[in-house]
Parts: sequence; structure tokens; C-alpha cells
Amino acid sequence: MPAEPRAPPTRAAITAVGTYVPERILSNAELAKSLDTSDEWIVARTGIRERRVGAPGETTSMMGAEAVRRLMAARGIAAADIDAIIVATVTADMLFPATACLIQDQLGLSRAWGFDLSAACSGFLYALTTGAQLVSSGVHERVVVVGADLMSAIIDPLDRTTAVLFGDGAGAALLEPAETGYGILDFYHRVDGSGRADLMMPAGGSLLPASVATVTSRQHFLKQNGRAVFKFAVTTMVESVQILLRRNGLTPADVAMVVPHQANQRILDAVGERLGIPHERVASVLAKYGNTTGATLPLALDEALKQGKVARGDLVVFTAVGAGFSSGATLVRWS
Ligand code: ACO
Repeated sequence: MPAEPRAPPTRAAITAVGTYVPERILSNAELAKSLDTSDEWIVARTGIRERRVGAPGETTSMMGAEAVRRLMAARGIAAADIDAIIVATVTADMLFPATACLIQDQLGLSRAWGFDLSAACSGFLYALTTGAQLVSSGVHERVVVVGADLMSAIIDPLDRTTAVLFGDGAGAALLEPAETGYGILDFYHRVDGSGRADLMMPAGGSLLPASVATVTSRQHFLKQNGRAVFKFAVTTMVESVQILLRRNGLTPADVAMVVPHQANQRILDAVGERLGIPHERVASVLAKYGNTTGATLPLALDEALKQGKVARGDLVVFTAVGAGFSSGATLVRWS
């Protein structure tokens, strides 16, 4: 007897987005008061004009929880409706317990399990893929994916090469079963640990546990080789998007919106140019928020949605590169 045709797998769709940024704005001019830098240099080299900074006592879990609260309100769901929460962050409130547990408790997500995911600036992309599998498997109906980082906790205020780049913020996306033909269609992700020295926080882990020496030598702050990261980011985001499009029989002309990790406007411009995608179809919120690490993708997506740049049926490509190196791209048909 011929086998019954198998039903296509259920896909996951992003059905709501919630974001949060702290109130306090830190402008380039304000940074230039304490650092040897200028508004002109920062704008010309990065496109960043200002970033947000958490209030004293504000943490990554608090920012993430507020983003999820807004997402629940937008979708009209209750805390008990959420099955799982995945938090992408490099600035967890504590090394453990997981930030996901802290957000679960703050919001009273009574049925949820969850965990944190460490992939730096690719974290939200990887969390989206992970959460989508939980929905596709049929195990869960509603999975919340959070990208949240209080970068001000790990940025050296005396290092002008990094202090001007980063900001604090959070974003969350709800994943639910998609209608046929919609939702997350495909992903292409890679890690390359040979790039580990180019972007990292040296101390505080098992390699260099906290000591007086690690504190005095400022090893608990983010360190990066900006030029190496810049080159890798451009090449790898372009490659990831091209591979993903090619294997789905698509070209850049089919893509309504690219939502890239927000690190530097020059990186975004180069990526758009090499892909042949015009400026207005490459989402950017860099000028307002700088690089918020785990939060850049949901913040940029939220802005594109609010501006009406993404409509039902559109193809959206997310792409990111982060410490590790970690990298990838994800293809979504917007529902
Ligand atoms: N203000 C003024 N001058 C500065 C500043 C500053 N804030 N920062 C660096 N400079 C100086 C440098 O000291 C250097 O001076 P020198 O020539 O006397 O040595 C000069 O400016 C040029 O430095 P470069 O590093 O060559 O400047 P570049 O144009 O590469 O810009 C930057 C540096 C902005 C860090 C860039 O390399 C970059 O954005 N790299 C990507 C890194 C990144 O975004 N990482 C984020 C995390 S990973 C990710 O998100 C992909």
C-alpha cells in the first residue's frame, strides 16, 4: 500500500513583539565630556548618536521582564499561557541562576520552563531558532524568546574604543504555530571559535576567576579587536544571507526587509551594498540605541513594524554576527 503523504511540519511564527529601553539617554556629547572622543567621530565612524543606560539597580532580568510584559499585553495573553522562555544575554543578572528563572518569577509565568542562551550578538537569532523547534515539534504552543543586555555593566567607561558603541535594552518575541506557508522558513547558523580572542570578556569565568588582580587590570570588561570584528561581521553576514536565499531559490530582490544585528552603521551599509539591497530595506536603530547585543534584532524589528515596513506575506531576513564568533541568518515569511 502506498504510504500516506506526510503532513508538512508545523512552523513557528512571530506573533507579537515587545521591547523596552531604559529612560536615561546618554548622548555622544555627554560621553565626550569624560572620554577623548567627539560626536563627529562617533557619528561618522559608527552612525550612533545616543544610547540608553539602565537606572541604578536596574538589571537585565528587569528589562527583559518589561519587554515580555509589553508583548503579553500586545497579544492579549496571560502569564499562564506561556510554555517556555529562552533568554539570550551576555549580561545575566548573575552567572546563575539563569535570567530566564528570574523573569519567570517576576512575571509569575506559572507553567513555564526556560533557560539562558549564550551567543553574544547572535543570541537572539539562536534563541529564535531554538524556540521555533519547541513549537514545530508540537510540544509547545507559546514560546517567548528574549534578547536583553545591560551592556553598561561590562563596558569599560575609560575605553573610548568600546564605550561609545554599546547601550542597554531588551526585546521579546512570541512564537506560536504558523499558518501553512508562513513563519520561520529556514535558518543557517555557524560558530567559529578561532575568533574567540577578537571579542570577549576575559575574567569572571573558570579561566580567570575574579580576583583583586583581575579587577585592577580591568579584565571584567568587554575587550575587542574592532577592525577584525568589523571585517568578519560584513563578510559573514553577507555570506549567511546569500547561502540562505540561494538554497530557498530566492534572490535579494525577493526580500522586503533585512533585520541585521546593529553594531555599526558602516557594517550595515556595507552588508546592504554587497547584497544589493537598498538602504531603506535594511533596518537600523543604531542612531538611537547603539549596540544592545542580545536586544538589537527585536529592537530593529519592532521599529520596522511600527513604521509599517513589514506586511503580511513579506519575506524578512534576520542576520547576526557576535562574539565566538557566532553568526547566521534566518528567513521568515511574515504573518
Ligand atoms: N573616538 C575617537 N577616536 C577613536 C575612538 C573614539 N571613540 N575609538 C577609536 N578611536 C581612534 C583609534 O584610537 C585610532 O586612532 P589611531 O589611528 O591614532 O590609532 C583611530 O580612531 C582609528 O581606529 P580604528 O579602530 O581603525 O577605527 P575604525 O574605523 O575601525 O572604527 C570601530 C572602530 C568603531 C570599533 C569599528 O572597528 C567597529 O565598529 N568595529 C566593529 C566592532 C563592533 O561593532 N563590535 C560589536 C560587537 S560584535 C558585533 O556586534 C558584530
